Amino acid sequence: KNYRKTMKTLIVNTSSKRYPIYIGQNAISKFKILLRKHLKNTKNILIVTSKNIPKKYLSGLKKNSKNIKYHSIILPDGEKIKQNQYLIKITDTLSKHNFGRNDCVVALGGGVIGDLTGFASSIFKRGINFVQIPTTLLSQVDSSVGGKTGINNKFGKNLIGTFFQPNFVLIDINTLSTLPKREMIAGFAEILKYSLILDKKFFNWLNINGEKILKKSPNIISDAIYRSCKHKAHVVKKDEKEKNLRAILNFGHTFAHAIETICGYSKKIIHGEAVLIGMIIAARLSNQMG
Ligand code: NAD
Ligand code: GLY
Repeated sequence: KNYRKTMKTLIVNTSSKRYPIYIGQNAISKFKILLRKHLKNTKNILIVTSKNIPKKYLSGLKKNSKNIKYHSIILPDGEKIKQNQYLIKITDTLSKHNFGRNDCVVALGGGVIGDLTGFASSIFKRGINFVQIPTTLLSQVDSSVGGKTGINNKFGKNLIGTFFQPNFVLIDINTLSTLPKREMIAGFAEILKYSLILDKKFFNWLNINGEKILKKSPNIISDAIYRSCKHKAHVVKKDEKEKNLRAILNFGHTFAHAIETICGYSKKIIHGEAVLIGMIIAARLSNQMG
């Protein structure tokens, strides 16, 4: 039970599922224990990840695989994989290996992998067990929590998707050690967003500790992730399907999506950067409108 000592735990309580978020250093090494705790009858696991994500995280997950059969899919990198072709690749693989609802799909990667894999899990046999292991700061504080899944079509972003909560979320802070600074700043954008919409104290704390987050100081990062996930869990509990309050989490995102569309969802501007600019525009507009 030593995972309790080394990881912080938060509960997300929604009308469709109640599930924990585990946050800690080297949390991936606790995957097997948590799998047995939450998903006793799982015999097959499919890990979906992408090319640029260091292989050591995938091999760390597969360690000590007694009584469990592991399969993995390594997809190309980038927003472009949030589309039909890759959705079918995941669901075909599940069919080929005879996965049942008691088996489990794991998303190991950033928000792109999480959104695509979560969607595939939600429609395969009308819903199979699903675990999020987010490896970017943005996915650790935002996309892995709350159950929004989806892909894009030629008309726009995230237009096809489901609300489908994971069975648990495992946040390993050590995975950030390989994350480029640009992606750290993108994640910081969503952290800053929580402070601006919900928590002035957190905003002041970020003013002092922001630089340490970008420098990957483990204790500060762990605190920032915990506080961000707590805010997200609170909002999602009150409004899982975005009928009203949850829209607050889209602060800056309307402008952000417009900026991303103009840039063709390329690396010219990444999601978190667009959110930073979007929040500035939204704040200015709000100010102008009184
Ligand atoms: P991403 O998934 O594209 O990851 C960014 C880059 O980092 C990729 O190149 C990836 O390969 C690389 N990477 C990931 N982990 C790494 C690691 N540990 N070390 C080194 N490189 C690593 O981008 P993102 O910012 O994580 O997610 C953006 C996506 O999330 C968008 O599609 C957005 O729409 C979606 N999103 C969804 C929600 C939601 O609630 N479902 C919320 C916010 C954003
Ligand atoms: N990222 C916005 C939401 O989860 O609602």
